[in-house]
Amino acid sequence: MKGKLIVFEGMDGSGKATQNKRLYDTLVSAGYKVRRISFPDYEAPSSALLRMYLNGAFGDKPDSVNGYVASAFFAVDRIASYLSKWRTALDDGEIVLLDRYTTSNMVHQTSKLPREQWDEYLDWLYDFEFNRLGLPAPDLTLYLRVSADISEKMLAKRYGNDESKKDIHERDEDYLRRCEESGMYSAKKFGWKVIECAENGELRPIDEIAEDVLREVSVLLNA
Ligand code: TMP
Ligand code: MG
Repeated sequence: MKGKLIVFEGMDGSGKATQNKRLYDTLVSAGYKVRRISFPDYEAPSSALLRMYLNGAFGDKPDSVNGYVASAFFAVDRIASYLSKWRTALDDGEIVLLDRYTTSNMVHQTSKLPREQWDEYLDWLYDFEFNRLGLPAPDLTLYLRVSADISEKMLAKRYGNDESKKDIHERDEDYLRRCEESGMYSAKKFGWKVIECAENGELRPIDEIAEDVLREVSVLLNA
């Protein structure tokens, strides 16, 4: 029987990696066979083009490369990872936990287009990645929602306020704000489970967010 594909999506610093690891530990303790995968797959040669893009080789703004082109770079990295690293696990019934996925194109590349073109792009992307390339569509997408303000605060902390460590997305505040909107638009369109990760301008405690995550995952696994 095919396994389950669970995706963590959210802006930088929303806690995707932390929650992914927490859920992994919980599910392994409960006896499930689980695998964790993260995108982009920076260590792999398949990420060469997206690394060039994020490092500014094609221009120093996100908008220097149109959303369809950038989407292709990220999609190529994804399919290479799927085919070589986790297709068999999913086919054999394991649970695969992903940190970012096609959902990141849905958030980050949509925001480059005028709003009246969002549906056209999102429908194209869905068809391209899930039908044409043959990537599996997620069984559950958990959207860890934080504002662009909090995201920037968390990034500053992560990089010790060193701007040079940021990629071209992270450097562009206006772009991150647009991603906040395209993120919620995609969440609604594709039925993602939105988990509010901030309260009064601060991140909620990790344990509380983990409980919300587990609640959604239990619904999926017990269905
Ligand atoms: P990172 O911040 O997790 O290292 O991811 C790199 C950036 O690339 C981040 O701003 C989100 C963006 N991205 C896409 O635009 N499309 C994708 O498919 C992925 C995986 C990431
Ligand atoms: Mg980032």
